[in-house]
Amino acid sequence: MITTANIADIRKQVKQWHMQGETVAFVPTMGNLHSGHITLVTEALKRAHHVVVSIFVNPMQFGQNEDLDAYPRTLQDDADALVNAGAELLFTPTPDIIYPKGLDKQTFVEVPKIGEEFCGASRPGHFRGVATIVCKLFNIVQPDVAVFGRKDYQQLMVISAMVEDLSLPIDIIGIDTVREASGLAMSSRNGFLSAEQKVKATAIKRAMDYIAEQVCAGDSITECIEKAQQQLVEAGFTMDFLAVRNASTLALPRTKDRHLVILIAAFIGKTRLIDNLTFSR
Ligand code: PAF
Repeated sequence: MITTANIADIRKQVKQWHMQGETVAFVPTMGNLHSGHITLVTEALKRAHHVVVSIFVNPMQFGQNEDLDAYPRTLQDDADALVNAGAELLFTPTPDIIYPKGLDKQTFVEVPKIGEEFCGASRPGHFRGVATIVCKLFNIVQPDVAVFGRKDYQQLMVISAMVEDLSLPIDIIGIDTVREASGLAMSSRNGFLSAEQKVKATAIKRAMDYIAEQVCAGDSITECIEKAQQQLVEAGFTMDFLAVRNASTLALPRTKDRHLVILIAAFIGKTRLIDNLTFSR
């Protein structure tokens, strides 16, 4: 695997593959890779001849009081895992390379509506940061396909909307969340949890399963959310949001909507976990 922080190196290699008639899949990450990320690489390899991965902890998507500095950096382990998974090119830029003029003077991409609620409301500026870096990375790598985890459900919708709105010639693929045997969704932030908190965190999946089952059985969505929320608070969570929405639009569900998504964000101690579950009633 070639590892480089240099934009020109990335462009040169991808151009060469394209000139040979070969396709390129891209997996953008912030590193500290776990089996969820490796699944993205495996799925990317099924969809193109070559896989490019980026590792960049993007300062633009972190708020003032968020965990940018504490975000785990594990480059050597990540690189080893990527070689084993079959990635061929790893882009590891620094903030100076990506934002040479500084964050304040940087042109940005903002996707309206879909990014305004939920994580967008709790983390102002977050989706602007995500859309801007993903757009930049797409312009640097110029992939045919890009692969993202469905765990960041709203992020995937924001990126899909950006690609459509800006007519970017890239297929966006969403891959199902990888979970531990306990049901806990794989996340780099799980590394911040103590053993006890990790056990507690499994309540998130149980709460989502409960809501999906009860809503399918015909119970009121509002009442199910209230009960699940109460259970989570009793278990020690501080809730950010818990909602059931139309899975395609994130609008409030109408009676005729069949395909729904449960979106949740909650804190255990200082660690904010997000998860989601799609289901059909
Ligand atoms: O999901 C992530 O890891 C990040 O938000 C992404 C898409 C790599 C952009 O920094």
